[in-house]
Amino acid sequence: MSRRLHSESPPPRSAKRAKMEKLTLESFKNGVVLAPMVRSGALPSRLFALKHGASLVWAPETIDKAILHSERVVDPVTGVVSYNGKSRAIWTTHPVEKPYLIYQIGSADPDLAVQAAKTVMQDVSGFDLNCGCPKPFSTHGGMGAALLTNPDLLCSILTALREAMPPEITVTAKIRLLPSQEDTLKLVERIINTGVSALTVHCRTRNMRDRDRAMIERLKEIVEFVKGMGKDIAVIENGDCLGAEDAKRVREATGAHSVMIARAAECNPSCFSNTPLTDIHETLVPAYLRLSKYLDNNWSLTKFCLSQFKSSHTKPNGKADEKRVRESIVKSRSFDEVVDIAGGWTGEEDFEEIVRAIEAREGKSHAGAEPSTADAEVVGAPEQTAASTTTPSTSTNQSSLCRAVEAKSGNKYITPPGTQNPHPPASGAPLIADVQRTLPALISGKDPLTPTPLVMPVL
Ligand SMILES: Cc1cc2nc3c(=O)[nH]c(=O)nc-3n(C[C@H](O)[C@H](O)[C@H](O)COP(=O)(O)O)c2cc1C
Repeated sequence: MSRRLHSESPPPRSAKRAKMEKLTLESFKNGVVLAPMVRSGALPSRLFALKHGASLVWAPETIDKAILHSERVVDPVTGVVSYNGKSRAIWTTHPVEKPYLIYQIGSADPDLAVQAAKTVMQDVSGFDLNCGCPKPFSTHGGMGAALLTNPDLLCSILTALREAMPPEITVTAKIRLLPSQEDTLKLVERIINTGVSALTVHCRTRNMRDRDRAMIERLKEIVEFVKGMGKDIAVIENGDCLGAEDAKRVREATGAHSVMIARAAECNPSCFSNTPLTDIHETLVPAYLRLSKYLDNNWSLTKFCLSQFKSSHTKPNGKADEKRVRESIVKSRSFDEVVDIAGGWTGEEDFEEIVRAIEAREGKSHAGAEPSTADAEVVGAPEQTAASTTTPSTSTNQSSLCRAVEAKSGNKYITPPGTQNPHPPASGAPLIADVQRTLPALISGKDPLTPTPLVMPVL
């Protein structure tokens, strides 16, 4: 794998770049965004979602206390930023996603939430408060969906975050519906009045399971209600959206400004494209393996994410081929054992392709560069074709490409001096405890409780 040269003192960023790094109220409109997903929202998944058109990406929920005493280390080769706890990597990110990245906090304490936000604020564009997780580990601590019935606490956390963060960092909330629409509207009113930049509504109640149909018909009134408050705040629909094309249906039915996708993206991170990749065992899986290896993504986490992938097939043997690839990955114990599946490219080339796709979108739909209209088309990044994910460009000289990307970006993906970690984390870091607990039985050999079984229809 070739290594990029480092610059001793990166030149200042261009004015355009600085502008794009700031989210505005408009950034949350006319988009299709990646939902926060513990485990499944890993860094490579977020980058592929961005490449294929996600307008913003939410990082998985991290409980406030978990990040507080972490150490921030930067991989000098890839630029990956890792927040390492004593025994494990807690969260990883990369500067390339920062302009589009919302970090989700799990909290039941305004002070802890603010401390957590201050810990990572240099690497994110916004903070989201998880007010919807119904799992006992969250609700027992008063976090997640427990906040829905404790609006004073919920709003005090949002207010504290808003007051503590500089204006260029957004604060948002993700809630579930309450059983009664009247109570939901009361809660929404209070949340909007805290100064949030957007509100995501998962259109299920706390007691509903993912297999229950999302009640998106209840959202229209909520959207109208927020409009009626005279605030220009985006309401983001979440629940049962299958992809970019389907997002048009959801927006039409609900009037929502944007749509957030979780499980369909877990199955296929290219679902944000109007032409999502098919046969992903041949297209996305090899690229995902290469990128994960390059970024030093934890191998077990990589396997877990790949185990959730699912797509439609266009080739006669597609299903059988996918099964073969899947089984081969399941049996493998390291990236070295999947070289034949990963194919010819290096992950660095995949990474550069992602950087190009992200750079190409700037000035288009992000950061309010275009005024939004209520009935505008869902806007995403320029489309990437299946071929562009898998086929090395023979005409492109990769090292000159790399230099061009670096020159254009003002070396922003290069590690700043003084932050280099002599021992890059990740592959050596112990497996995140949560991941170990919930790996599918096929991978772990145990029979864990899979939090969200795959129930999405094949795209
Ligand atoms: C694997 C997985 C992990 C999730 N983790 C989170 C999380 O960290 N924070 C959160 O607010 N919601 C989380 N959710 C819920 C999703 O963000 C989303 O609200 C829910 O899946 C409904 O969207 P969908 O119908 O598009 O799947 C998770 C869902 C899945 C499938």
